[in-house]
Amino acid sequence: MKIVSQIKEPINMEMELFEKKFYESMSSKVALLNRITYYIVNRKGKQMRPMFVFLTAKLLNNGEVNERTYRGASVIELIHTATLVHDDVVDDSNKRRGFFSVNALWKNKIAVLVGDYLLSKGLLLSIDNGDFDLLRIISVAVREMSEGELLQIEKARRLDITEEIYYEIIRQKTATLIAACCSLGACSVKPDSEDVETFRKFGELIGMAFQIKDDLFDYGEERIGKPTGIDIKEQKMTLPLIFVLNHCSKADRKWLINSVKNHNKDKKRVKQVIAFVKENGGLDYAVKKMLAYKEEALALLETYPDSDYKNSLILMVNYVVDRKK
Ligand code: IPE
Ligand code: IPE
Ligand code: MG
Ligand code: MG
Repeated sequence: MKIVSQIKEPINMEMELFEKKFYESMSSKVALLNRITYYIVNRKGKQMRPMFVFLTAKLLNNGEVNERTYRGASVIELIHTATLVHDDVVDDSNKRRGFFSVNALWKNKIAVLVGDYLLSKGLLLSIDNGDFDLLRIISVAVREMSEGELLQIEKARRLDITEEIYYEIIRQKTATLIAACCSLGACSVKPDSEDVETFRKFGELIGMAFQIKDDLFDYGEERIGKPTGIDIKEQKMTLPLIFVLNHCSKADRKWLINSVKNHNKDKKRVKQVIAFVKENGGLDYAVKKMLAYKEEALALLETYPDSDYKNSLILMVNYVVDRKK
């Protein structure tokens, strides 16, 4: 069986119902919006975030979820979708999930408004149902994601990013939302338990590994459904490059910084930078760090009793670092 089907096996029913609810949660009276949300849901992503929500809830509650769990999963996926729509505007990216991005088809103006609409729909889904504990978890994640993307832009402008700041950026822009998935899954079934914090931490560690993997994709040539090689173009310095910058000669460092600063739109030069990073162990180092986060996440699961849900979570953590897109 394919690994993803294997992971989903214990949550098949929940994921099926989730997809229905998720689509319904986007509906609007404005025809243009409906056309765009229809376009979005028909090009669905991996749906890893709702999977984390359901697996965590079921692991902690003897295989039972409730309406709060479903709403939480929908809110998270709505917010994830909103941030992707905005992120493609920010990164000037024309591809997402193997198709044109919303900004590529409808332009930035519309993409910004669609992102805001999805975000508000997510928050309202919690408010209208009185899920205020879940809403707090989600709102913290939304705030941190914006801060993370802004910190990234600040660092891209000044080209003075350190390894520590890189971790802070990816913790905020990506890991917080995956942390929210797991803590929300826990909170939906066991509101005041210590598990909420344990699973927040678990999700955060996976989220770190997840973004390092995403940043590694950018150095590859594989077809992953979105452009590769665009991080340097956007002056986004990620772990492989940061490592190499800190471990090369002064002259090489000067050449690298100058390339990113003044020749970042020159395809040939960007290719040379990528080759340099590869030759100097940048990717190997990032892989090593990614695997360390993965191991730390897995260790947190050890104290929980074995179950199909725990098994799937373990497979899922491994999938985060082994995935092909
Ligand atoms: C993409 O997330 C954004 C990042 C945080 C790197 P996913 O890779 O989960 O996107 P989809 O939903 O599967 O398209
Ligand atoms: C993560 O960063 C995006 C979000 C936090 C929404 P990236 O810009 O690397 O994500 P991709 O590569 O566009 O999916
Ligand atoms: Mg992007
Ligand atoms: Mg990326």
